[in-house]
This record gives sequence, structure tokens and C-alpha cells, in this order.
Amino acid sequence: MADKMKQKILVTGGIGYIGSHTVVDLIENGFEVISVDNGINSDFSVLEGIYSITGKKVLNYPLDLCDPDTCKTIFSEHKDIAGIIHFAALKAVGESVQKPALYFKNNLLSLIHVLEYAVMHKVGAFIFSSSCTVYGEPDHMPVNEDTPLREAESPYGRTKQMGEQIVKDILAHTNVKSTLLRYFNPAGAHPSAYIGESPLNTAQNLVPVITETAIGKRDKMRVFGNDYPTRDGSCIRDYIHVCDLAHAHTLALEYILSGRQHTSCEVFNLGIGQGLTVLEVIQAFEKVTGRHLNYEIGPRRPGDVMAIYSDYKKAAEVLNWKPKYGVDDIMHTAWEWEKRRSAGV
Ligand SMILES: NC(=O)c1ccc[n+]([C@@H]2O[C@H](COP(=O)([O-])OP(=O)(O)OC[C@H]3O[C@@H](n4cnc5c(N)ncnc54)[C@H](O)[C@@H]3O)[C@@H](O)[C@H]2O)c1
Repeated sequence: MADKMKQKILVTGGIGYIGSHTVVDLIENGFEVISVDNGINSDFSVLEGIYSITGKKVLNYPLDLCDPDTCKTIFSEHKDIAGIIHFAALKAVGESVQKPALYFKNNLLSLIHVLEYAVMHKVGAFIFSSSCTVYGEPDHMPVNEDTPLREAESPYGRTKQMGEQIVKDILAHTNVKSTLLRYFNPAGAHPSAYIGESPLNTAQNLVPVITETAIGKRDKMRVFGNDYPTRDGSCIRDYIHVCDLAHAHTLALEYILSGRQHTSCEVFNLGIGQGLTVLEVIQAFEKVTGRHLNYEIGPRRPGDVMAIYSDYKKAAEVLNWKPKYGVDDIMHTAWEWEKRRSAGV
């Protein structure tokens, strides 16, 4: 097997939330990493956080992947890219309803450009960030990789469904092997508190909304609906710690690069298989931090499914992936990160 130290990985969206944690995990597992991220939703100071954890200065190209010359520049300067992990995308569901053309252009054009260069330069592995939104509102729980896909609830969700198909089609008759990773609800932060979720756009995911409320950036938060037929009436999701998620990317990459993946494309669900209600997550935060959270119950939010959680048996068996963190760790690390970023340290 090729020396892992010499394997160079291109991470797109490498200063984003999941991208930055994955960059750290890749470095800790002996890979060399370069990144391309134009900072449309992230601050370049994330690179300093990565440096504080790993001691490595990661080269980031601050370029837009929708520009066809971006990949040309990167691949002409790096002829030895062994794998690509493609995170770069816009991800705000509500915004995608307001600006669908922006989402289709940004998420699909960037993907097609990266895929074209992956094929042209015979990159060994391509990992794509997908989402459990591709399952829509499933009939049965937990959801495994064979659960039928449903009509997506938003243009954002459609970019993920189309993105999966585009990856499969463009790479089908090539030597580039791919993995589609369907994330459930990524949350939490690196235990060092040097990196975490810090979108430039307004946070929409539950955990940063909780921590921003607790620290006083928001007066109060809203729970969207308490009249669903669930344990306490609020929606159920499967929260996965971002470091567990990041490590799954390293394992998926190693699976392909070591020649163990014999199919052109594999799909893996990445959740921890435990459904928690929104109110249970709030209670976990209050228990772990000892803080009272100011929240109110509001109406249901259009596009929210009632419940979804994963069956991750395939990732466990094939990739040997096992989540290490639970909801209390998510709350603890997210809170430590919130305190640090709010203090501007
Ligand atoms: N966070 C979640 O809840 C979640 C869930 C499922 C799937 N995903 C997917 O995972 C991926 C990463 O998500 P994240 O939470 O880290 O988001 P993020 O916004 O923190 O990271 C995405 C990064 O891509 C960059 N980017 C976007 N468009 C670009 C372009 N055209 N050129 C160059 N850079 C560009 C942004 O600046 C950002 O840093 C996305 O594809 C997202 O759709 C996220």
C-alpha cells in the first residue's frame, strides 16, 4: 500500500464546519491536506484553529469552485491529489427556497467542475457530502441505505439528490471510486474548542441556536411544533458528533485508497442510531451546562419531517466506524466552543 504520508487530499469547503473537523482528522491520520474554500459561509481564521490543534498550516485556495478556472489552478499546482472530499455547498434550507437558482448553481456547478477534474487527473477517491434529507419523510425507522428516497422538501435537498446522481453518472465508467455519505444531524465541536460551528450566515441548526441563546446572542429560541405524534410532541432527529462524522470521512477514504472498495460507488448513513426530540436535546443542554434556556413553543416549520434516525450498521461493518460521542458530549463541546468564540479568543 502507498505510504499514507505521501497521500494528498483535496478538501473542498475545508474551512467550513464539517470540513475543518475532517481536515484535522485527516492530518491526525497521516494525510497531507489542501483546501479550497472561498469563505462564502466561513471565516478564514478557522485555519488558525486547525493550526492550533494540528501544528500544520493548511494551504487554502480562497477561490470559487463555480469558476471553471479554480480546479485548473489547483490541479496544475498539485499533480498528486489522491482523493477529494467535496463539502463545498450552500446549506440553508430556508434560503434555498428563497433563492433556488443560487443553490442549484452553487451546489451543482461546483460539484461538476470538481468531478471533471477528478476524472481528468485520475484521482483515486471521491467522497460526497450528502444528507438524510434525501429520504424525505420515511415510512419506517430506522432508515438504512436501502430506504427509498422521497421527494425532497426543498431546493437544497434536491441539490443533494441530484448531486448523488451526478456523482454516480460522471464517475460510472471511470476508475474514480466514490462514496456518498448521508449525514444525519451533525453537532458539537472539537474538544479543544479551537474549531466548531460558526457560520457567517445565521445559524439554523438546533445546537448552535441553543448555545447562541444561552450565551445571550438571541433573546429566546423557538421550538417548531409540540403537536407531532412523538414522545413529547417535538420533532425527532439523530445527532452525530462532528468529530465522529469527520472520522468517517477518513475511514471512507482509506477504504477506497487501500483497494477494499470493489464497487464504483458506495452509500453510507452516518448517524448514531438514536432519535432524540428537540425538547430532549434542550434538556440535555440544561443538564450538562447547568444553564436555563429561554425557549418558546411555536408553530410547525414547513419542510420539517416528524422523525428521522439512522441505521448505521453498514458503516460499522464495512468501514469499521463506531461513534464515540453521545448527546452530552455534543452539548459540552458545543458550549465550550460557544464560550470561546463569543469571547473572541
Ligand atoms: N451541517 C449539516 O447539518 C449538514 C447536514 C447534511 C449535509 N451537510 C452537507 O455537508 C457539507 C458541509 O456542511 P457544513 O455544515 O460544513 O457547511 P459549511 O457552510 O460550514 O461549509 C461549507 C463550506 O463550503 C464553502 N463553499 C460553499 N460554496 C463554495 C464555492 N462555490 N466555492 C468554494 N467554497 C464554497 C463555504 O464557504 C463553507 O466554508 C455541505 O455540502 C452540506 O450541504 C451538512
